[in-house]
Amino acid sequence: MLYGEEVDLWSSEYLPYHSKTPTEYVIEKILESEKAEVDIFPGVVGKYREKELVKNALLSGSPILLKGRRGYGKTTLSKAIAELLPKKILAVKGCKIYDDPTRPVCFSCKRKLLEENTVELAWVPRIWVRIPGDPMMTTRQLVGGISIQKIREGYDLDHPEVFIPGRALKANRGVGYFDELGALPSAMQTLLHELFEEHQVTTLEGDIVPFKVSTLELASTNPANYRGTNPIKEPLLDRMEEIEIGPPETLEEEIEIGMRNMFYRKWRDEGPPIPRWHREIVARIVRYARDKERFEFTRRIESEPSCRATIKLFDHLQSKALRSGRRVPLLSDYGENLEIVKLALMGRIEVEFNLSERKGEIVERLFEEAKKQTCRQIYN
Ligand SMILES: Nc1ncnc2c1ncn2[C@@H]1O[C@H](COP(=O)(O)OP(=O)(O)OP(=O)(O)O)[C@@H](O)[C@H]1O
Ligand SMILES: [Mg+2]
Ligand SMILES: [Zn+2]
Repeated sequence: MLYGEEVDLWSSEYLPYHSKTPTEYVIEKILESEKAEVDIFPGVVGKYREKELVKNALLSGSPILLKGRRGYGKTTLSKAIAELLPKKILAVKGCKIYDDPTRPVCFSCKRKLLEENTVELAWVPRIWVRIPGDPMMTTRQLVGGISIQKIREGYDLDHPEVFIPGRALKANRGVGYFDELGALPSAMQTLLHELFEEHQVTTLEGDIVPFKVSTLELASTNPANYRGTNPIKEPLLDRMEEIEIGPPETLEEEIEIGMRNMFYRKWRDEGPPIPRWHREIVARIVRYARDKERFEFTRRIESEPSCRATIKLFDHLQSKALRSGRRVPLLSDYGENLEIVKLALMGRIEVEFNLSERKGEIVERLFEEAKKQTCRQIYN
């Protein structure tokens, strides 16, 4: 029964929404796209090498570890992978882990399917669950635990209602994104070995969570957070494919990422009217800050600005123009003392000795160089 109506699960109308694991859906999409030669991650700008590796690893059924600095698109790529899943799936209504009606894994659903004549179903939107790498994460939060409340209500300890799934199990039938995997306590990382390999978990107390989930596991790690050693334990690394996520490779990609993610676009639902040369100036400011080869002074930058710096710089420039009653930004909108550029960059770069005047000077130099180079290009 689906919302009060009897349905034939095996009819072509419903067939695409059950009986497959997320990995199966994803593999299907990848193989289809290979034939048609289309980009299956249109939400991710550039990153051709990374996309190729991701497709290969997915096709091999491997969990993937996206390794890269802050703001270079790890989360975006993980969501793009989730987009390969159907927009919605059919699940047993009320199931805490969105069980597949044709192959339920939790006790409560198994029993329902055996004992009851009609089983209520429900649509569940595409599942992408972020599992934060919290150093305080407990087994209960990660895997699940027993509800004292339910026991008080008189349920037996082994009653299915009593088990409350944790985040890793909530990702069943979708993508589980372990954000900053290395920050999980090592005992929690150990629990994941089994989950990544056999899709099953044994808790620290030795209890086996009595079902296999079908989740597509992805994880992220930021090498800049490492202090000395790699915090992801080796046995866990051995179970995943590591794919490096770098900064946008070209000026064009930087511009596209910036423009595409501007607040203005979400707010106005139209492309921002930023002229070509301003796009180049903005993108160059950020790219020069990452470039240790081009200028001597940028070597003093210890942590480089991410794509969020690019996006925000575009935003602030556009906002400044709007506040002055114009749609189109001018050079004066960067601010008399480059306040607008600083607004986007001061908190996003770190400089040796953390001197803020130094940082200000560096931002000014970045702007000058970006402007110079852009003008040079225009007049050549
Ligand atoms: N290749 C890209 N294509 C489209 N958008 C991108 C790309 N790279 C970065 N972005 C945009 O930059 C912003 C930051 O990206 P994202 O959140 O994916 O980075 P992250 O690597 O997960 O960062 P963090 O390490 O801080 O979690 C987002 O708004 C995202 O849309
Ligand atoms: Mg992220
Ligand atoms: Zn269930």
